[in-house]
Amino acid sequence: MIPDSFIQDLLNRVDIVDLIDGYVRLKKAGANFVACCPFHNEKTPSFSVSPGKQFYHCFGCGAHGTAIGFLMEYSGLSFVDAVKELAARVGMPVPEDDIRRPHGGTSRVSLSEIMARAARYYYEQLKRSDKAIAYLKKRGLSGEIAQKFGIGYAPEEWQNLGTVFEDYTQTELQTVGLVIRNDQGRLYDRFRDRVMFPIISQAGEVIAFGGRVIGEGEPKYLNSPETPLFEKGQEVFGLPQARTALREKNTVIVVEGYMDVVALVQHGIGNVVATLGTATTARHVRKLLRQVDRIVFCFDGDAAGRKAAWRALENTLEALPEQKSVGFAFLPEPEDPDSFVRNQGVAAFERLVAEALPLSEFLMRELAARCDMTSAEGRANLVADAKPLLNRLQTPFLRLQLIKRLAEASGFSQAEVEHLCGLSPIARSAPARAPRQAPSLLRQLLRMVLQKPELAANVPLAALPDNSGEAQALRRLCEAIAEVSAEIGAPPVCSALLERFRNGEDEGVLNQAAAELMQQPFDEETLDEEFAGAVDHLRTAANRRVFEALQAKVARLGVTDLSAEEKQQYLHALRQGSYQSNDA
Ligand code: UTP
Ligand code: MN
Repeated sequence: MIPDSFIQDLLNRVDIVDLIDGYVRLKKAGANFVACCPFHNEKTPSFSVSPGKQFYHCFGCGAHGTAIGFLMEYSGLSFVDAVKELAARVGMPVPEDDIRRPHGGTSRVSLSEIMARAARYYYEQLKRSDKAIAYLKKRGLSGEIAQKFGIGYAPEEWQNLGTVFEDYTQTELQTVGLVIRNDQGRLYDRFRDRVMFPIISQAGEVIAFGGRVIGEGEPKYLNSPETPLFEKGQEVFGLPQARTALREKNTVIVVEGYMDVVALVQHGIGNVVATLGTATTARHVRKLLRQVDRIVFCFDGDAAGRKAAWRALENTLEALPEQKSVGFAFLPEPEDPDSFVRNQGVAAFERLVAEALPLSEFLMRELAARCDMTSAEGRANLVADAKPLLNRLQTPFLRLQLIKRLAEASGFSQAEVEHLCGLSPIARSAPARAPRQAPSLLRQLLRMVLQKPELAANVPLAALPDNSGEAQALRRLCEAIAEVSAEIGAPPVCSALLERFRNGEDEGVLNQAAAELMQQPFDEETLDEEFAGAVDHLRTAANRRVFEALQAKVARLGVTDLSAEEKQQYLHALRQGSYQSNDA
């Protein structure tokens, strides 16, 4: 475990501006530094780095984080590796005893450790199973590739993992989906007698498994359920293994199956990942397009594959930034990428990918196939069908291209198509951002405390409402500050605080608040005053809640049923009279 105090010291020593400037040329802009975002394509800089907060944020794509987060995202390092690299830069030795994940949601630590141990176990078991080895050999896989993907084997017994974990009954094993409890309360392994494909997150951790039966059997693949570690709509198989090839090719090939990925890699095509038996989501697309400029979907040459391609198209539209491109390669039925590359060879596969149908062509072709293009009505239907799709597109250029194509195909003028699709002629302005709302009181307090952690000691925790995520985040933030301050004798810096919440429940709220803070920091001179005002508001609101609860009780039961203390509170509040304005 890397101690928090080390992360703390490390983030104090590293300068995020120096770090990022080594990768992206930064320019000074006011208190911050800006650049064109390295995580999405843009012409005007919306990527901003704050030396004060030691935090970066992109107002275009929403990427954000600390120096550690930047290295994880930019270089695809795991948390531990990012910490090691940063430490090496400033010459700090990393405490060695155990280098698993350090902190954040406490349960997470053990969950990913459990998955790592299970993966090691399955990997070891593969070496002992002639049957599994023979199966993989028969499918053309070399030992090297099996190792690269950490492919394993789950033996036939019902409680294999009982030999791996001292306590087979610990609920965490069920939480990560490795162990199942049946109706009789009996526990057994989810994966038995299957070839195991570990699914590894961008941060390099095993978050799920896919298990294939050896030979015939149902279900062919058994997958981990969604767990706190694993959200299907966001993960792909093969991403960490593909990283170098992605950078080289600047293109990712997305296929449907585990075996498609490993077979292509076996044939030297490394820039390939698979969605996990689910439809491609906009989140998948965004994630991939942060790493490369082009996606080629290459789904199976059957009806299901074509349907999957259309779903992928629909979900790509909203996630497609300007200057990124998407193509669709169609395999001849009944091939899938695995069988195709074996039967037809690498060159044929590469040709197929190079000649992938552009998104606009695929879209037009499919829409036209659904309408009777020989009648005026059919052509009007074409435009009507295109409308919801066009409206999802965020990219003016592609939209315009499609409008032109639609106009040609339908016989309407371009202006008519735009009108029919409810599109006004495309504005050339920057993409609209969500209108900025006045932040709530709690949000303000969060931001103040992030800007000046010393303030945490003066937040009246008892006055926080207990029903909101922001209140919870604020409470935990203040507690964390108190803890760290006691530990290191000084209030922590913003970035170190944010690292403590990595992967925790409050991560989103806190990062959002930090991002807002970068955009609109408080004036140092008046911050204390503003803080005092906000605390007053908080107390007033808390008093009002108490008073309203008492008043409701009085209305229900009468004053006599209040306890002595409640009576006191009630009378005190009445005398103050400050709450009656609401009822008047
Ligand atoms: P396919 O049925 O096309 O299998 O499923 P495949 O990838 O060609 O596998 P092999 O070559 O027969 O071994 C494509 C993907 O859909 C998911 C898996 O992710 C699989 O790789 N799938 C399929 C499941 O999750 N469960 C299943 O039972 C079948
Ligand atoms: Mn296959």
